[in-house]
Amino acid sequence: MGLSISVFGMGYVGSVSAACFAHVGHKVIGVDVSSHKVEMMAGGRSPIVEARMSELVEEGHRTGLLHATTSAEDAIRDSEISFVCVGTPSMRSGKLDLSYVERVVHEIGLALKQKKSFHVVVLRSTVIPGTTETLVVPTLEKASGLRAGVDFAVCYNPEFMREGSAVADFLQPPYTVLGAQEQRHLEPVKQLYKTVSGPVFETTIPVAEMVKYVCNAFHAVKIGFANEVGTLCKNLGVDTEAVTKIYTSDTKLNISPAYLSPGFAFGGSCLPKDLRALSHRAKELDVQLPLLESILPSNLLHIDRAVESVLRTNKKKISFLGLSFKPGTDDLRESPQVHMIKRLLGEGCQLRVWDRDVLLGRLAGSNRQYIEEVIPHIGSLLSADLEEVVRSGEVVVIATKVDKDQLAACLGQEQIVIDLVNLASAARPRAGASYQGICW
Ligand SMILES: NC(=O)c1ccc[n+]([C@@H]2O[C@H](COP(=O)([O-])OP(=O)(O)OC[C@H]3O[C@@H](n4cnc5c(N)ncnc54)[C@H](O)[C@@H]3O)[C@@H](O)[C@H]2O)c1
Repeated sequence: MGLSISVFGMGYVGSVSAACFAHVGHKVIGVDVSSHKVEMMAGGRSPIVEARMSELVEEGHRTGLLHATTSAEDAIRDSEISFVCVGTPSMRSGKLDLSYVERVVHEIGLALKQKKSFHVVVLRSTVIPGTTETLVVPTLEKASGLRAGVDFAVCYNPEFMREGSAVADFLQPPYTVLGAQEQRHLEPVKQLYKTVSGPVFETTIPVAEMVKYVCNAFHAVKIGFANEVGTLCKNLGVDTEAVTKIYTSDTKLNISPAYLSPGFAFGGSCLPKDLRALSHRAKELDVQLPLLESILPSNLLHIDRAVESVLRTNKKKISFLGLSFKPGTDDLRESPQVHMIKRLLGEGCQLRVWDRDVLLGRLAGSNRQYIEEVIPHIGSLLSADLEEVVRSGEVVVIATKVDKDQLAACLGQEQIVIDLVNLASAARPRAGASYQGICW
């Protein structure tokens, strides 16, 4: 059986949501401050130019499932779920303008005051994490005199549609993300999405708010990256299409979750060197590639953050686990761990360092020369005894994969653990005064 929905904001997101919900059998009331848009919707005409919208709005008009009004009060009275789809434009500073959101939820709150039955308010507008809980909920409570979670519920449900294919994206999204303070508040919203394909993620409100921004930022990074790669190819006289076809066909390392888990900085013998060479060649060609050129400075900043996280503890004795740039190798070239240890030594910290793979390499002679000639001061801090290294510090820095039980066996309750590599939660040792990450 269909539900009764009101949709606030008859712009791109709101009118598509309204028309699609009516198309799958729900009773929908569109609300807008623009009487022109309301008249169009009420008359069966789409207020936006978008594929399939004319057909769907006309269909909603014919079936009697799609209505429109300028009255927030009428819309709230005649619906059980309200979607907020008003604009959240940029201010001159880049700050998000939340005035439309604030105004509309104030109006919804006033209307809720007149209502006896439970109501669910679902925010769809893109908002900075925290907005729903710090602006939307208090504004609704203040205007209605009711309590969120008791008399009404608030959820966050981002929209992933693209203009140009918005109806198709609404009906076949990559997934549906539903954020709520309590999962039971999502029951009626989940009902609504039964006809929509793809997985449903039930999560907290701030996670749902953030996912929307991360998706858009990632799309923007991908476009910027592709355009810079293309520009460089063109200037080098290399076939852009052929390069793109090949590198995007790699779904193991390129178009995949690989390298997308927040953790420590990159290093090693390839990434820094190859990024530098590309940037250098681009400069020779007088081609600016700000995205590619920003990656190494971003990586250095990440090492700074890691150093800061240790210095903030105000402890001087540091047990450092991991020296090579990634687990399973003894390669120390451009290792961010080496860089970080040098910084900490410069700040007057006393370090003991352990790395199983580097010690093996040293025994085999493969990295002995590097340690003895390039970083002798760090070589002298290396120990093969994990327990001795862990017990020597007030702060234990995990910068490589390490056996959880072995580490837990020698960790003291008073020690602070800083995990740079973001070990899987099942692989984290339990002991320690606190367990912190730098970007998680
Ligand atoms: N456009 C997209 O493709 C897209 C996709 C996903 C998310 N979003 C996000 O969704 C939100 C809406 O975007 P949009 O492009 O649909 O905006 P829009 O500017 O096209 O539409 C907003 C509508 O809200 C109406 N409105 C403003 N105050 C109102 C009030 N108090 N009561 C009722 N109606 C009111 C406006 O008159 C307007 O018609 C934004 O936060 C945006 O970032 C947009």
